[in-house]
Amino acid sequence: MLDRTQMREFAERGFVVIPQAVPEHLVASAAETIDELTTREPPPDAVRGPHFYFPAATEVPSLLELFTRSPAWSCAESLVGEGALEVPRQVQVALNIPPFSHRPGGHHIDGFPPEPDGRPGTFTLLAGVLLSDQLDQDAGNLWVWPGTHLTHAAHFREHGPDAFFAAGGYPPIPLPEPEQIRGRAGDLLLAHYLLGHNIGGNTSGRTRRAAYFRVKRAGHDPRWREFLQDPWLDYPPLR
Ligand SMILES: [Fe+2]
Repeated sequence: MLDRTQMREFAERGFVVIPQAVPEHLVASAAETIDELTTREPPPDAVRGPHFYFPAATEVPSLLELFTRSPAWSCAESLVGEGALEVPRQVQVALNIPPFSHRPGGHHIDGFPPEPDGRPGTFTLLAGVLLSDQLDQDAGNLWVWPGTHLTHAAHFREHGPDAFFAAGGYPPIPLPEPEQIRGRAGDLLLAHYLLGHNIGGNTSGRTRRAAYFRVKRAGHDPRWREFLQDPWLDYPPLR
């Protein structure tokens, strides 16, 4: 469960980090699965920076359980409503391999290009479980632009939700100063779908690891146009 301060922080900034939301034994078991994954399909030698795997959730139960069998689930339910979350069908394993001296020039939102049926790949909430410590800046951390969940929604109210397609993931909004998400293995990031974010650099000595879940409130898909304009449509507890 999130407390009132965390709920308010999510509402105002579009994200919140919950320290040590995921128990150590789940983190350890997920680490083993990622070791197996990277042994079976190693990143090509030349890869620096981001490298992703997108296994089906049913193929990697130990990764799915980071979210579904830990307090992370009830933290997300605090925002979206009890019993309202769909179990994600896919997990993203996000590595950031050093050295990668990159600084993102701006933000993006996910979901472009659209899915085969033409619907943008919107969702309710990004749940990210850190699987390596990233306490310093530029250690492969995710970058976020606080408050842009609200600016994006205002943009889509002004220009209409179909402006999503022209923007191609980069809606032209004014950006505040970015922040890097810092934390330890086992910390949970909950971020609104509409929060601008991007991949950062990694000048630390260590590959950064995280598992991301793109989570939907039941009934999200057909209401994507409304959701882009009303950021709290999928979040009854925050309305
Ligand atoms: Fe993204």
